[in-house]
This record gives sequence, structure tokens and C-alpha cells, in this order.
Amino acid sequence: MKLTTILGDITKISCDAIVNAANTSLLGGGGVDGAIHRAAGPELLKECRTLNGCPTGKAKITKGYRLPAKYVIHTPGPIWRGGGSGEETLLRSCYKSCLELAATYGCKSVAFPSISTGVYHFPLEKAAPIAVQTIMDFCKENGVVEEVTMVCFSEDTKKYYDEALARWSEE
Ligand code: APR
Repeated sequence: MKLTTILGDITKISCDAIVNAANTSLLGGGGVDGAIHRAAGPELLKECRTLNGCPTGKAKITKGYRLPAKYVIHTPGPIWRGGGSGEETLLRSCYKSCLELAATYGCKSVAFPSISTGVYHFPLEKAAPIAVQTIMDFCKENGVVEEVTMVCFSEDTKKYYDEALARWSEE
């Protein structure tokens, strides 16, 4: 399995599934959630309304509609409250739940945004190593997903994922 980081806009990525950093209502919002809904068009919200929300750390899948990606996997990340409320476990669960769902749907290529590190204020220096370790651990056990891309929206975000990936490769 190949894990790479790129600087870009996840709504432009043509892969089997892109992941949306959603909230538990799954009814849209700002940040990457807003961008994905704008790019996918109104049918995405229509399908999301049928899903009855999603608990933090879990994931639900919809079609991609007008997006280049075939599917959108929606996962509400944890809101950072200082680290004492199980945030790290919940973030790990986000990445694992998304990859499990992607594999179930036969997705070979998956693109993630940096879940929870925007509005939800999860510190990047903690989020990036959690993401890299969880993705690598999952793909060691599962052969369906062949390519994972971390789509970073800023150079600063990409720096943290590049560092986490470099550190993982050295271990
Ligand atoms: N492509 C890729 N990444 C993006 C894009 C985009 N088009 N737009 C924003 N991002 C990045 C942000 O810069 C950040 O690094 O996605 C990361 C996650 O930030 P948020 O979108 O704020 O998500 P999060 O911190 O998980 O907060 C989720 O915000 O938008 C609401 O409805 C959403 O309530 C939920 C909350």
C-alpha cells in the first residue's frame, strides 16, 4: 500500500473515495464539509438526510455525485477538549472506520483530509502521527485499499504529515 501526502483541494481528487471531515448530523457545515457539499451538489445532502447522522469516530458512505470521486465517506472527528476525553482513540477510530468502509465497498484509492485539525482544533502534531500509524496498521492487514492520499490544504498541514510519514518509515 502506498501512502502519500499532497497539497490540494480534496474536492478535485479523482479517486474511488474521498473522506469528509463531517459533524454528527451529516447535514453539512463549513471547512472541507462545506467544500465537498458545494462541489457534489444538492443530491449529496439529500442522501445524507437519509442516514440519520453518524456518531463521532464512525463513518457512513454516500455516492460522490458531481465530485470526481465515486464515493464520499463521512466521518465526524472528535472535538479537541484538551486530550482527556478520549480524543486520540476517537481520531484513530475515524481513520479505521473510513478504511473499513472503503474496503467493504472495494475502494482501491482513498483520499483523506486532515480530520479534526481545523474547526475541531485537534493539534496537528498529535493528529498526523495518529493518522499515519492507523492507516499503515490497517493496510498491513487489509489488501483491498492500495493507495491512500493525505490531501493537505496548507503547506503547514502538509509539513506535519510529511514528518509523521518520515518518522514512521524510519521505525
Ligand atoms: N480540501 C482538503 N482539505 C480541506 C479543504 C479542502 N477543500 N477545506 C478545508 N480543508 C482542511 C482544513 O484546512 C483542515 O486542515 O480540512 C482540515 C479539517 O478542517 P475542518 O474542515 O474544519 O474539519 P474539522 O476540524 O474536522 O471540523 C469539522 O467543521 O466544517 C465543519 O461540519 C464540519 O462541524 C464539522 C467541523
